[in-house]
Amino acid sequence: MTDTPLLIVILAAGKGTRMRSALPKVLHPVAGRSLLGHVIAAAQSASAARIAVVIGPGMEGVRTEAEKLAPGAAIFVQENQRGTADALLAARPALAAHTGNVVVLFGDTPLLTAATIAAAEAALSAHDIVVVGFEAGDPTGYGRILTDGQGRVTAIREHKDASAAERAVRLCNSGVMGFRSARLLEVLDGIGSANAKGEFYLTDAVEVGRAKGLVAAAVSTDERETQGINDRAQLAKVEADFQARKRAEVLAGGATLVAPETVYFSHDTRIGEDVFIEPFVVFGPGVTVGNGVTIRAFTHIVGTDRKIATGAKIGDDVDLGPFSRIRPGTDLGKGVHVGNFVEVKNATLEAGAKANHLTYLGDARVGAGANIGAGTITCNYDGFNKSTTDIGAGAFIGSNTALVAPVKIGAGAIIGAGSVITKDVAANALAVTRAPHEERPGWAAKFRTMMGRRKK
Ligand code: UD1
Ligand code: CA
Repeated sequence: MTDTPLLIVILAAGKGTRMRSALPKVLHPVAGRSLLGHVIAAAQSASAARIAVVIGPGMEGVRTEAEKLAPGAAIFVQENQRGTADALLAARPALAAHTGNVVVLFGDTPLLTAATIAAAEAALSAHDIVVVGFEAGDPTGYGRILTDGQGRVTAIREHKDASAAERAVRLCNSGVMGFRSARLLEVLDGIGSANAKGEFYLTDAVEVGRAKGLVAAAVSTDERETQGINDRAQLAKVEADFQARKRAEVLAGGATLVAPETVYFSHDTRIGEDVFIEPFVVFGPGVTVGNGVTIRAFTHIVGTDRKIATGAKIGDDVDLGPFSRIRPGTDLGKGVHVGNFVEVKNATLEAGAKANHLTYLGDARVGAGANIGAGTITCNYDGFNKSTTDIGAGAFIGSNTALVAPVKIGAGAIIGAGSVITKDVAANALAVTRAPHEERPGWAAKFRTMMGRRKK
């Protein structure tokens, strides 16, 4: 960290054709957050004074994501994808207005940490240009960092342009580059496109800068951090690495994962202590789990979705699953039990409430200690509107009850099994809507005899 103000420019205009997707590459998710979202988060925790994002024409989804996650960021459109140097030049007004350091990040490199950005920034106190490099297991496709043996970078050679000797170099360009702003525009304007791809390479800033007397250096980081995503296989690899990182974090935080490799977290999942998670559990975005919680196998906590921005809160000592589906806006209070084949959406279950089997609770409040029998359904949707169900504390809802919302069940009320409740029920009352029980002694035996005779 230095006192020099930092401008971070994120290049995200590439279409990412190898993804074969209608979605721009940087909007593909890793652990429930877009690639761009991960990069913006790293830029924010690196304390950038300003953030600029370069997007492609017509990428309104990318613009919306950038505006949502980095309010106040300057957004620029690169009209034609003519290379990374050209992309950075799309942010010319931001570069011209800035005095201090500039760090360039790629929108397709989501595992990058703030510490690496800070290392690049720190190196700028002694050098004009800095490139973040890594030792690649397989360097194919990456730009190679060429050095003079005295710690100075002489050039970055793109794989396609590299000689056999240059290709043997293992130190690769992560894509993160830092510049002092003073002569950056002059350097960028000096970059040409005489190379294998006919593009304006940002990496050529090293050679162009050198010719102007500027000095470039490299700082190193771990390969796992710098993986770029150009296709879906790389997307899957990055997801796997992110999950490994997150599982280790959750275990260190005091949760037991019986089979860690089968549990999938979101980037922001928060798990308390003494949480016991059985195999095959999936967490979507925006989920918080308290202490002492048990989450049984095959439970899906969906978290947020496009309509509901609040995720799910699982309170202390909750017992959840197996096979529960917890959708957005769910708030489970202390000691709540939600069991197999129970779906909860936009509903609060207060302390000690139980819904153990085969139930749908949507747009509802379930009061403390209430018991929801198997097969209970809140009928919250009439095909046009959603309505709410309110169940008072200590109420007992008999099995196979349909609660037709809007409806209110008073505290301590009992609903007879199999009822269809369309009107409010007073506290401590009994409500049953079943047809009366009718019984005819011996009728079945007579019926069988009669039918037997007819058949002969
Ligand atoms: C780039 C680097 C390479 C490095 C590798 C690391 C250059 C010339 N090459 O190669 O040295 O090893 O990343 O992953 O910089 N972009 C634009 N506009 C463009 C072109 C690209 O915004 O006109 C953006 C893309 O959206 C992407 C990033 O820049 O986020 C990198 O572009 P990409 O085409 O993926 O570069 P690589 O070939 O991977
Ligand atoms: Ca790339």
